[in-house]
Formats: sequence, structure tokens, C-alpha cells
Amino acid sequence: MSRDSTRRRKVYEGKAKVLFEGPEPGTLIQYFKDDATAFNNQKQGVITGKGVLNNRISEFLMERLASIGIPTHFVRRLNMREQLVREVEIIPIEVVIRNVVAGSLAKRFGIEEGEALPRSIVEYYYKSDELEDPLVTEEHIAAFAWASYQEIDEMLNLALRINDYLSGLFMGAGLRLIDFKVEFGRHWDEDEMQIILADEISPDSCRLWDVLTNEKLDKDRFRRDLGRVEEGYQEVARRLGILPDAGPRDLKGPEAVQ
Ligand code: TMP
Repeated sequence: MSRDSTRRRKVYEGKAKVLFEGPEPGTLIQYFKDDATAFNNQKQGVITGKGVLNNRISEFLMERLASIGIPTHFVRRLNMREQLVREVEIIPIEVVIRNVVAGSLAKRFGIEEGEALPRSIVEYYYKSDELEDPLVTEEHIAAFAWASYQEIDEMLNLALRINDYLSGLFMGAGLRLIDFKVEFGRHWDEDEMQIILADEISPDSCRLWDVLTNEKLDKDRFRRDLGRVEEGYQEVARRLGILPDAGPRDLKGPEAVQ
């Protein structure tokens, strides 16, 4: 049961989510907002129903990833907009994996969007609003002690496994996973530290194009004013079989269900 969100302690508020203190030590409640920003806060808006859909989509994807042995912060969904997660110390690095040229990669090198890459590219960005999330190398990450080489290696391996699995899962739903961003955190169990997947995986953090038409079904609809923004998120949820009001019978898999 969720408690009154005005009475519990807010631990952190980001652009798209709020973290509240959880019911037990070592847990947090992750609340998904409808707010959307792009280009480091220069563009702001509301995507009605996004929080509800991202809560469900991230739940679905994190559970599937857990089933293949990826450690994640996800514990369980609490209600339409909230999920219980394990508390972690977030590593201040955005790990981006790209399968197809798009977004800032296309811009940086003047390449047309849509060109398949001969191999997946991994990039690291330092999480800093003031610095506008600069692209960094492993050298910077280790030298500034944002993460050790061993932790970088762990994040890289997990991100590549996540990419392989999610590429197949989305393909089964008629979607191409163009690129995505993940974040990791340090989780302590007794004295053991483990790097686990944190944050969210949703159309806010992935580019997803229709396999046949290349139609964009992700946050680029908002970033680029393509219209039908809500519909993009709904379509991803629908294809994964997880519309917000869907019952258990509708949770069976990546087929189009109404
Ligand atoms: P980019 O092409 O703008 O660098 O984005 C690469 C991927 O990372 C894309 O799927 C969107 C995602 N992303 C985020 O989740 N948060 C961000 O702040 C940025 C810049 C990108």
C-alpha cells in the first residue's frame, strides 16, 4: 500500500522521477512523474500518462532482465506510479549503448540517422546538469574516481548483456532498439558490494523505432515536436502487452493486445 506522498520523506527529486524513503531500511519508493525535459532542461513539458506507462514498462523490462541474471534495483510495483526499489549509491555515469546511428552520434559525426552500426558502440557520459552531461572516457571515470576500472568493466559487461537481451525482446514486439541509456549503482549486502542496474528503462531512456516503418515511438516525439507523443508511449506498452489497466491475462508477452 502506498502512503500519502505528502507525508513521507522525499530523498531526491529528478526531472522525471521522485525518490521517497521506503518502508524498510535500504529501500526507496520510486515515483514516476508525467514531466518531461529535453536538451538539459531547456525544453520542458508534460506527457500525460507517461509516469504510469514508464512505471509499468520499466517493471516489465527489469523483471525480464532479472530472469536472465541481471541484478537490478527493482523489488516490486506498488501502484500505478510507484515501485519499491533497493537503495543504491548511484554511479554518476550514464552508460549509452548504440546499435543504429541516431541523436547526438549522428550530430557529432555528421552521419545520417538510421545507419546500422557494424558493432554496438558504448559511450559514457558524466551525470552533471551544470556541465550538460559531457561525454567522458574510461580514463576520466577512473582518474576522477567516479568508478574504478573493475566497476567500469562490470557496467560495460552488464550493459552489453542488457543490449543483447532487450534487442531481441523489442524485436519480438516489432520494435528496433536503436540506442538506450542505463545507470548503475553500488548495493551493499553485509560487506559485499555489487553493481546493480538502477533508474529506469523506458521510452524516456531508449530510442525505439517501428521495425517496418521506422516510426519513432519514444521520447524523440517530444524532443522533436513530432506530435502524438502520448501515443508513442502507449504503443510501446501495448506491444509489450502491458497497458496500465491490463489484467494478468494481458501480461503474457510481446504481442499486440487491447
Ligand atoms: P543521445 O543520442 O541524445 O546521446 O541519446 C542516446 C540515448 O540515451 C537515447 O536513447 C536517449 C538516452 N538519453 C537519456 O536517457 N538521457 C539523456 O539525458 C540523454 C542525453 C540521452
